[in-house]
Amino acid sequence: MVIALIGATGLVGEMMIRVLEEQQIPFTNFIPCASERSVGKEITVGGKPYKVQSVEDAIKAKPQLAIFSAGAATARKYAAAFAENGTYVIDNSSAFRGEEDVPLVVPEINADRITQSTRIIANPNCSTIQMVLPISSIHQKYGIRRLVISTYQSVTGTGVNAVRQLFNERAGKSGEMAYPHPIDLNCFPHGGDFDEHGDAAEEMKLVNETRKILGAPGIKITATVVRIPVMGGHSEAVNIETEKAFRMNEVRSLLESTQGVVVQDNPKNSIYPMPKYAEGRDEVFVGRIRRDQSLENGINLWIVADNLRKGAATNAVQIARYLIDQQWL
Ligand code: A2P
Repeated sequence: MVIALIGATGLVGEMMIRVLEEQQIPFTNFIPCASERSVGKEITVGGKPYKVQSVEDAIKAKPQLAIFSAGAATARKYAAAFAENGTYVIDNSSAFRGEEDVPLVVPEINADRITQSTRIIANPNCSTIQMVLPISSIHQKYGIRRLVISTYQSVTGTGVNAVRQLFNERAGKSGEMAYPHPIDLNCFPHGGDFDEHGDAAEEMKLVNETRKILGAPGIKITATVVRIPVMGGHSEAVNIETEKAFRMNEVRSLLESTQGVVVQDNPKNSIYPMPKYAEGRDEVFVGRIRRDQSLENGINLWIVADNLRKGAATNAVQIARYLIDQQWL
């Protein structure tokens, strides 16, 4: 199997390589791709050096699998050319997530949406993945009526330039700004462009992607996304209103038995999920599990995950693993 990785020099791309290595995804050749300015650079995968190539050259090589992590514009420009050659494309950008015939997949929830003839598979947004994984079983059992989400997102979700901005500010150095404001010792409620209602693009991703993954277009969802000067992962305060009544101990057991979820919930002993400790982990951590006393059927959760791993690379590699397990790759 030949694998191409588009965006191999980015933060998520580098993490993709690490997770592909860890998960021992087999390949006979690996084609790292990036923008023209990186072509020719060397990248080590599985102990072997590979030269960064142009996306055009990767298309000509007709790989069996192309993983995209280079933004929506690059995916829109090149994904179809890979797909036309029969390549399975797993795209980490927002380019195709809303398209009806493109499965939007969190493997633990809906890998069965992929068929052998699917060619483009969308990896959801990082904030969406870590939220839907724990709440999916709550939805199945009690029916979610409404979600109110507040995020506290790591700078790593914005990419290499944002991490550089944070560390430049810390070191008192000037440099290129990835954000419209300083991020160190600051936070801002701004994730992407604002629409006519005043919602940010990252907020609408949470709304639309959650509905699609859960197959529940009627769930009412509202979100506020906030960028904070943190590295290890995204955190989310999630308020859930369900249709059916529940017992809190049942909700807790449901979360404890959800594949890929780890419950860390003993607040009196200061135990709850934190991005510093989620870093480098593939699981989604859930804590502060409690009844919302202001609602008849309300639950509050605090959800944390490494946005570069389960929020991006791990989820994409799990999709690749699913294709291999089906013997389609
Ligand atoms: P490059 O390093 O050459 O700019 P991040 O999100 O961490 O900033 O990473 C973005 C990734 O997408 C990088 O690997 C970047 O390559 C790649 N990329 C950006 N624009 C293009 C493009 N037009 N074609 C291919 N890869 C691109």
